[in-house]
Amino acid sequence: MKWKEEYSTGNVEIDNQHKTLFAYSEDFREVLENGCRSETYEGFLEFLTMYTSMHFGFEEECMFANKCPFGEKNKNEHAVFIKIIKREIEAFQKDGFVPSRASKLLDVIDAWLDSHIGRIDVQLKSYIAQ
Ligand SMILES: [Fe+2]
Ligand SMILES: [Fe+2]
Repeated sequence: MKWKEEYSTGNVEIDNQHKTLFAYSEDFREVLENGCRSETYEGFLEFLTMYTSMHFGFEEECMFANKCPFGEKNKNEHAVFIKIIKREIEAFQKDGFVPSRASKLLDVIDAWLDSHIGRIDVQLKSYIAQ
C-alpha cells in the first residue's frame, strides 16, 4: 500500500513516519511472497512494536499540543492496533511463523492504516498551528 496525498496530516514528521510504515508493510509483503524466514518475520514484528510506540506517542503529543479534539479517539484506536500486534506476537511465540497468518496480519495492518489515517490522523490538519 502506498502513501497518498489524502493521508497528509499537515505535519511533515508525522507524514514521514506514516510513509515509513507504508514502505515497511509493502517491503514485507514482497518478502512474504518470495519466501520469508522466521527471523525476518520476527524482525518485522519487532519493528512494528518499536516504530508504532514511537509514532503513536509522537502523534498523540502533537494532537494534544494542537488541541485537536480527535486526540482521545486517536489514542483509543492506537491501543487497538497495539493489541493486534501483541496478539500476533503471542501467536508467533506459541506456534512459530505461519505464512498465512502473517499475510492476514498484513491485510489487517493495511486496512487499519488506511482507515485510521484517513479518518483520524488527517483531522490534525485543521488544528495544527500554521
Ligand atoms: Fe493515529
Ligand atoms: Fe499515525
